[in-house]
Amino acid sequence: MDLALLISSLSRQEGTTRHSQQEALYRSLRNMLLEGHIPSGTRLVSTRVLAAELGIARNSAVYAYERLAEEGFVAATRNGTITRWDGCGRSSAGLESGPATVRLSERVHGLENADPEPERMLPFVPGLPSLDEFPVAQWRRCIERAWKVIKPAQLAYGPVEGLPELRRAVAAYIRVSRGVRCETGQVFITDGTQGSLELCARMLANPGEPGWLENPCYNGARTAFRSTGLDIVPIEVDREGMAPTDEQWRTRPPRLIYTTPSHQYPLGALMSPRRRAALVEHARACGAWIIEDDYDSEFRHDGEPLPAIQGLHADAPVCYLGTFSKTMFPALRLGFMVVPPVLVERFTRTLRELVHRGHPADQLAMAEFIDTGLFARHLRRMRTLYAERRNNLETALARHLGTALCVRESPGGMHLSADLALPLRDTDVARAAASRGLLLQPLSSYRVGDGRPYNGFVLGYSGLSDATIETATMQLAAVIDEQSRTRG
Ligand SMILES: Cc1ncc(COP(=O)(O)O)c(C=O)c1O
Repeated sequence: MDLALLISSLSRQEGTTRHSQQEALYRSLRNMLLEGHIPSGTRLVSTRVLAAELGIARNSAVYAYERLAEEGFVAATRNGTITRWDGCGRSSAGLESGPATVRLSERVHGLENADPEPERMLPFVPGLPSLDEFPVAQWRRCIERAWKVIKPAQLAYGPVEGLPELRRAVAAYIRVSRGVRCETGQVFITDGTQGSLELCARMLANPGEPGWLENPCYNGARTAFRSTGLDIVPIEVDREGMAPTDEQWRTRPPRLIYTTPSHQYPLGALMSPRRRAALVEHARACGAWIIEDDYDSEFRHDGEPLPAIQGLHADAPVCYLGTFSKTMFPALRLGFMVVPPVLVERFTRTLRELVHRGHPADQLAMAEFIDTGLFARHLRRMRTLYAERRNNLETALARHLGTALCVRESPGGMHLSADLALPLRDTDVARAAASRGLLLQPLSSYRVGDGRPYNGFVLGYSGLSDATIETATMQLAAVIDEQSRTRG
């Protein structure tokens, strides 16, 4: 049994609770069996040894083995736990029936999440705007006005491209604020970046074609690429952003490249102008499409923002994605993608088969929010607030955690990322922090495939009041201190 493979699979799935740990181990072992990495008839290591090797509770290993036995993948015998699955989709060695579970497509293996929906408002949750500050009354008035002008015909399926009012408002806004080169006709309204990513991946690449992801990477992009069956290639990042090597361009030329150049997620780097130019040039040369995710570029705290890569050249092979999840609120589920002129016609025709669009009131209200300047005013207020909160969190981390965490430079956004400077595992600390009501996102959970491992945290600050920043940081310091003492 290949423990290294198991450990690498687990590191991609690790959760923060005992329950998610058990589930992750069970899923990883099941995937290894389904994919033929453990031949039928193999004796698995004992639960005691497995638990010790993985540094987990023995009960978690027992739980995983028992579930695999219930489903017919393994059998408990006097000689230990023996695998009964031949890796070709058949159970073997005298078992009459196959596993009792429903088999989902291979594209979604490893994507199931058995954890209960997490509490989203806990301190340090990344990417959540300051929802208390959202101007609900203004928004409600826009919604009410929208319903006054909506005609019965607009209650049928809406245009797949989105309503013209919102497409026009978005185009005008991103041309000025982000230097995106676009006509209204290139803008497609979507149900958020996740929806845009899945559409781009399905429309622009075939299963098995190479999809480049930054390592570490936004998990939503990894999910979109995996669920469309792309062959994922991790590309390391450095202080200048995504850093593909010449060898990678030569030996694994991409079909799709996902990148967050204005604020690398989760580490925070701003992609340098020379990297941007090289990315576009190489992508063009090998016929790849770049998916530029500009998720929180509105919140720039230091220095001048760089315009979007999409605007570098008139014919840059870039699909530009934006979301209102950060600037408005995530439950709105509204985002947009800007596609190059050559794709507009084909995207429109394909989208007519792939999706139905609706929510006319939200779209009209959003258009009015932008056109009347309410959006710009809200953004200005949030920019100031988030800059203050970023500074407060940096100060609190320095005061309470000293050198235990090494905070990465981050010129903007809604979170900081920090490396653990102590011999502790981020997942262990995150698990201990969860019991104190803190939601620490381990950096290791953003690793892509066999890319470089990271050990640290993403610390969201945009939704935290000054008082919470102080108390939550003190709690975090206490957790790390406790963990260091139990390890030492
Ligand atoms: C890198 C990145 N892109 C996009 C999003 C937003 O996605 P959506 O529009 O689907 O809410 C997030 C949210 O956390 C993110 O972190």
